[in-house]
Amino acid sequence: MTEERDNGINRKLINWFPGHMAKARREIKEKLGLVDVVIELRDARIPLSSKNPMVDEIVGDKPRLIILNKANMADKEKTKKWIKELSKDNVLALDVDCVDNYNIKNVIPYLKETLKDKIDKDRSRGKANTLIRALIIGIPNVGKSTFINTLSKRKAAKTGDKPGVTKSQTWIKITDELQIMDTPGILWPKFEDQSVGVKLSICGSIKDEIVELEYISFEALKLMIELYPDLLCQRYNLNIEDIKDKDIMSICDMIAKKRGCLIKGGEVDYDRVFTLIINDIRSVRIGAMTFE
Ligand code: G4P
Repeated sequence: MTEERDNGINRKLINWFPGHMAKARREIKEKLGLVDVVIELRDARIPLSSKNPMVDEIVGDKPRLIILNKANMADKEKTKKWIKELSKDNVLALDVDCVDNYNIKNVIPYLKETLKDKIDKDRSRGKANTLIRALIIGIPNVGKSTFINTLSKRKAAKTGDKPGVTKSQTWIKITDELQIMDTPGILWPKFEDQSVGVKLSICGSIKDEIVELEYISFEALKLMIELYPDLLCQRYNLNIEDIKDKDIMSICDMIAKKRGCLIKGGEVDYDRVFTLIINDIRSVRIGAMTFE
């Protein structure tokens, strides 16, 4: 960890890498041989930072569907742009939310479109139904398990070991057309760029114990002032004019006063105000936001 001082904020720079990458990569490569398609989950609020930088190399030519999960926590307009941006080079992208099942019904049609060539080939050989086998991959906390449970409607039917399949590998039957590997592939995020680590942390993808909450909240505030000043003002009852050209700490002080995050003598309780801000972001109380 490197430490810097900035505006009185102790910036403990995130330099976190669990070192499981080689193992994860090997395991995913092994599983790839057993599936037709990879479903790569990313966080709709941070479609770039929630992408593992090695995923393209790991997945290679295997057909892939990109899912932007937690879409209801993200800015709808930006999600539309991201879906357009990510849907290229034969890769489709779909935004979903597993809490209210938004777009879940479109996952299978999108998988079929992704595997159109294979399905057409099967048809031409007289095979009416193609069984699609998929592997879910993504960074921790992006919603892999939730997505599997949502797709299988929590009645996950394990179909048991199949010939040619690693013994421990079981499949969850979603429909007659789709089976999903029951253990998702975890790809750790790797971030040399501090802003990636900060965004992952804001969205709750890095354990709070290993980052400095005050630094993350401070950076989150900076991002919201830049990207969503109206939402920020609305939440904390501030005037847009009042925050214009103010430094971050002054805005923090304004929020603290509005919310009574003060200690005896009227001084700002920074721990409380930072916790308040980060919790308000993560619970979407400030609003649906996309940070890139
Ligand atoms: P993982 O397997 O990729 O590690 O992620 P997991 O499914 O455990 O999900 C991580 C957290 O993200 C969970 O919240 C889960 O409820 C939440 N989540 C997953 N998908 C969605 C989604 O589409 N929308 C929203 N809003 N949240 C989603 P948690 O707080 O860790 O657990 P819990 O309190 O919900 O049980």
